[in-house]
Amino acid sequence: MQWNTYYNFLFITVAVYFAISIYIFNRLNKTIDIVIDEQFHIPQGKAYCEGNFTHWDNKITTLPGLYLVSSAVKLISECTTYNLRLVNLIASVVNLLLFTSIIDLIYNYKKYRCEFFLQALNLAMLPPLYFFSHIYYTDTMSLMFLLAFSKATISNYNIILIFILGVFSVLMRQTNIVWILLLITRRLLFIYLVSSRVYKNAYKAEKRYKPPVFTKKIKSHYNLTDLYYATRLHLSTYFKVFFRFLIPRDWVMIFTHALLLGSFMGFVYWNGSIVLGDKSAHEAVLHIPQMFYFLIFYGVFSLPLILSNFLPTLKLINESKLRFVLLLVLFNIIVHYNTLVHPYLLADNRHYTFYVWNRWFGKYDFAIYASTPIYAFLLYSLYYNLNYQNCISFLLPYTVGTFIVLSLQKMIEIRYFFVPYIIIKLRLKRPSTKIIVLETIWYLALNALTFYIFFHKEVKWTDFDYSQRIIW
Ligand SMILES: *[C@@H]1O[C@H](CO)[C@@H](O)[C@H](O)[C@H]1NC(C)=O
Repeated sequence: MQWNTYYNFLFITVAVYFAISIYIFNRLNKTIDIVIDEQFHIPQGKAYCEGNFTHWDNKITTLPGLYLVSSAVKLISECTTYNLRLVNLIASVVNLLLFTSIIDLIYNYKKYRCEFFLQALNLAMLPPLYFFSHIYYTDTMSLMFLLAFSKATISNYNIILIFILGVFSVLMRQTNIVWILLLITRRLLFIYLVSSRVYKNAYKAEKRYKPPVFTKKIKSHYNLTDLYYATRLHLSTYFKVFFRFLIPRDWVMIFTHALLLGSFMGFVYWNGSIVLGDKSAHEAVLHIPQMFYFLIFYGVFSLPLILSNFLPTLKLINESKLRFVLLLVLFNIIVHYNTLVHPYLLADNRHYTFYVWNRWFGKYDFAIYASTPIYAFLLYSLYYNLNYQNCISFLLPYTVGTFIVLSLQKMIEIRYFFVPYIIIKLRLKRPSTKIIVLETIWYLALNALTFYIFFHKEVKWTDFDYSQRIIW
């Protein structure tokens, strides 16, 4: 009975998603042959698809994961642009299925009602992600492997499978190594805290340790102070307790992850850098405001949730006025000294970020400062919405990971926000039906608008003989 309901709903969800998407997909195929960076990806994909694995375009900075996977197209059909792009659309359907099973795992829905499937659908429909699922970019496939890796790790699947999924995640995008390590660091940090027996901040150093079972009432979430006490305990006991709390499954996880990290370091050492090819365009710089742009991303795509919790968030700010003011001062210092503008951002009018820059940040001198209260509000909103999920064992590796992935580059790329956003989204308390439905409507509207602009607005570039389109 349960089983039937689940698969019926799932089938309808996937069928509707695919039917609408393939319609847009076909229209896109008729509208434009090459969407911006596809000028590098498509010839590369075609070369691999034709079995020409020695061909490599030096403009490409990622590893060849996408092209390797799409070389399978040859087995079934021809290596056309249409088919290469279709590989991504199929990956986005797989993502929808993975979202469904991961949401099931996290929220433990008792009854599979519409909202459960809508919640998964919302993630697959996240407007920029949905757009890139229709063209030949690396992001959708990269997300697919990361989700599969996470699902396999959480559900404790075969270690060889986990390892292969991890390798493919990194082959799609090198930065995925950070997200791969997030799961294990979170788990180890959690054990680190729990095993130190920090009960309500009380430091308990017992001389004799009982067998490692978590029977006593332990806190559901820990903070930095707990981390400090845990460190004190573990240093004084030479980490003996910590290791005693690791179960065989943890050791297996440590082993696979260490192997992945080791292979990755080997690659970086051999290659001399994290990026392949055109290294000059990807020099690492410190660019902290990227974290603020990420907050804006959260603000736009979680708008229904943020608005519904608007008053409680203001109340939270009101309760810690001094902290809020200090945060504002800090944010103003950061934007004053560290606002960086990549030349592409000012020149490339095919992305929405160009228009935001042109009409706001770049237009008024005060704009970067005037935006800081919004960032601070959004940070409080995020904190409020995380509620009891903001355990330091998650927040610390997550924040560090997000910082590494986002803040070490000059260029603002909306695509880089997908993974940290989806992680946080899956971490939030289970949203109410109202929020889920409002979000579906909001995403449908944004997708309709952006595809409308894409199909109807042309931008002329003298470097190309075909007209350009505006994308995320
Ligand atoms: C995709 O577009 C190309 C070029 O416009 C066209 O020749 C081809 O038939 C289209 N493919 C499909 C399956 O619609």
